[in-house]
Amino acid sequence: MEKLEFNNIYNMDCIEGMKKIPDGSIDLIITDPPFAINFGAKRSNYNRTSEKVLEGYNEIPQNDYYAFTLKWMTQAYRVLKETGSMYVFSGWNNLKDILVAIDELGFITVNHIIWKYQFGVVTKRKFVSSHYHCLFICKNDEKRKFFPYARYKKDEKDADGGCLHYKDKEDVWFINREYWTGDKKTPTKLPMELVKKILMYSSEEGDVVLDPFLGSGQVAVVSKMMGRQYIGFEIVKEYYEFIKERLEKGVYRIKSSENENRQIEKLGLFGDA
Ligand SMILES: C[S@@+](CC[C@H](N)C(=O)[O-])C[C@H]1O[C@@H](n2cnc3c(N)ncnc32)[C@H](O)[C@@H]1O
Repeated sequence: MEKLEFNNIYNMDCIEGMKKIPDGSIDLIITDPPFAINFGAKRSNYNRTSEKVLEGYNEIPQNDYYAFTLKWMTQAYRVLKETGSMYVFSGWNNLKDILVAIDELGFITVNHIIWKYQFGVVTKRKFVSSHYHCLFICKNDEKRKFFPYARYKKDEKDADGGCLHYKDKEDVWFINREYWTGDKKTPTKLPMELVKKILMYSSEEGDVVLDPFLGSGQVAVVSKMMGRQYIGFEIVKEYYEFIKERLEKGVYRIKSSENENRQIEKLGLFGDA
């Protein structure tokens, strides 16, 4: 069977793709699978201009969601190292399928994190949904890597004397979504800050990070920026080409603001760009 290379991404179905990855070869999986809520890629919600949003998002019928989840998670379990971790994002709608599959496959749940972002879609007859679930899971709770002071030193305090590393490790994360106004984008994406946080706590430089559902490629792009190896799959050709362009040109946004460029420089990202 053809073996896939690390530091590459593939335009294919991730279940087939993951079958080509050797057992126990992945250090960290960060992923945000399709939601099975008939998500329309070109809906101009969140105040977006729909022409800038790339078409094609591959959605899964709701009735197939559990079977689909079991299939990709079976492969994820197989390829993950004993020292590895997986972070799976999910909206509330089909969360039950994700939770049942996690138990069924023998994953151990480490934390159930809530990611709170700054805005949702305005509603008239119900409350506004402005959070996501993130399941932090592993195969071996004794062996999994975790770097508790990766972001804040043990004795680092905020202005009120609060312990920064403690606050950063609470399981509700307030991280803003990125707007990318005027830039090319796919319909949903994880913010860089969120991906960075997970990479810093649960991986080291040189580790291999997998995202089976790349979308705009945030996990691969930020992993490369942070000196990790990456591999991933995206079934929609246009999205795959968008990610390739980002990785090959070494740009975070295809047309980025001065501010963001400065941030990227400061982090010493894409040294070879
Ligand atoms: C929620 S999005 C991921 C967004 C991504 N985390 C980001 O930050 O941009 C899910 C992606 O999975 C892709 N997808 C759906 N089914 C797939 C499959 N079987 N194999 C690979 N990709 C798939 C969709 O086209 C979509 O781009």
